[in-house]
Amino acid sequence: MNNKTFLITGGYGFIGSALIRKLLNFKNVKVINIDNLTYASNLKSIGNPDEKKYKHIEIDICNLLSVKDVLDKINPDFVIHLAAETHVDRSIDGPDKFISTNVLGTYNLLKCCYNYWSSLSGKKKSSFKFIHVSTDEVYGSLKKGEKQFTENDSYQPNSPYSASKASSDHLVFSWNRTYNFPSIITNTCNNYGPWQFPEKLIPLTIKKCLSLENIPIYGSGLQIRDWIHVEDHISGILKVLEKGGIGEKYNIGSNNEIQNIDVVSSICDILNKKFPSEVDYNSLILKVSDRPGHDFRYGIDNSKITKLGWKPKYTWSSGLVSTIEWYLENKAFFDDSILKNYSGERLGKI
Ligand code: DAU
Repeated sequence: MNNKTFLITGGYGFIGSALIRKLLNFKNVKVINIDNLTYASNLKSIGNPDEKKYKHIEIDICNLLSVKDVLDKINPDFVIHLAAETHVDRSIDGPDKFISTNVLGTYNLLKCCYNYWSSLSGKKKSSFKFIHVSTDEVYGSLKKGEKQFTENDSYQPNSPYSASKASSDHLVFSWNRTYNFPSIITNTCNNYGPWQFPEKLIPLTIKKCLSLENIPIYGSGLQIRDWIHVEDHISGILKVLEKGGIGEKYNIGSNNEIQNIDVVSSICDILNKKFPSEVDYNSLILKVSDRPGHDFRYGIDNSKITKLGWKPKYTWSSGLVSTIEWYLENKAFFDDSILKNYSGERLGKI
C-alpha cells in the first residue's frame, strides 16, 4: 500500500474513516476522500492529517462531471467505494435517497471509473482495482440452524436499503463481466467500533444508557446479527485489495452471531461495572414495535477470505469492551448537536 494513491468515497462515514485512519499509516500514501458530508459524516473522525497525504473534496458521487474531474486530476491506483446510505430504518421511512446514492451514485461512479481505467496503460492499468464495499443484507434473512451465507448464495434483499445495495452489487458485477472492469465486491456483516453514528444498535444503546433513557428493542429482541469490529473489516478490505481475485466476491465476517437482546444486555452489564449509575442499565430496556420486514438472522461464512490469509484480531468480548471504553473516553462524541438530537426512534412514514 506504500506509495499508492487511493480514491475513497464516503471517507467521513464510520467505516470509511476507519479505512482512512489505517491507510494514512502507510509510507508516501495519498488518500483523496470524496464525501458530500451527509448527516452521518463526522469530520473529527479523521483528525487533521498531513496535507501531503490527505485531501477531502466535498462532492456527491452522483455528480458525473465532478467525479470525472477528480479522477483525471488525482490519477488513483485504487478506488474503494464506501459512500452509501446505510440505515435500514431510514430506508423504510424514505427510500429515495437510498436509490439515488446507492444505485445511481454507484452507477455514476462505475461509469467514471471505467472511463478513467480505459484511458490508462501499462502497469498503472493492469494493477488498478475498484473495491465495492457492500453488506450481508443483500442475501436476505436466515432461519435458526440454516447454513450461513456464502458468496455463491443468490440475493434476496428485503428492505429498501438492502435492495439498493443488491442493485449496486449487480451493477459492479456486471461491469466486470461485460467490460472486464477490475472490480471486487466485499460483503460484510454488522460492524461496530469507535465513531459509529448512534442510530445503529451498539452506539445507540451506549448513548441511551449514558443519558438514562429507554433502550428500544424491536419486537422480540431474538433476532440475530453477526458482528465484526470495524478494524477487522478494514484489514479484510485491504487483504482483498492485496490478494483478492478480480471479479470475485468476498464475505468479511468474524463469526459472532448474537441475539439483539444479548448484545444490549452485555453492553448494560459492562457499563454497570465501568460506569455505574443509580440504576441497573438493564432496567432501561424497552420492547417496542417491530421494524417492518425485519430480517430475523444474518450470518456469513468467511472461509473464502480466510483462504487469502486474513483473520480477525478481535473476539466479540475484547471488541465490545474496547468499543465501550472508547465511547466512555469520548463522551463528547454524543454532544455533537446532530447526534444529540437523534432520538433513535423510527422517523416517520414514507
Ligand atoms: O448486516 C450489515 C448491516 O448492518 C449494514 O449493511 C447496515 O448498514 C447496518 O445498518 C446494519 O443493519 P442492521 O439493521 O442489522 O443494524 P441496526 O444497528 O440498525 O440494527 C441491528 C439490530 O438491532 C436489528 O435487528 C434491529 C435491532 N434494533 C436496532 C435499533 C437501532 C433494535 O432492536 N433497536 C434499535 O433501536
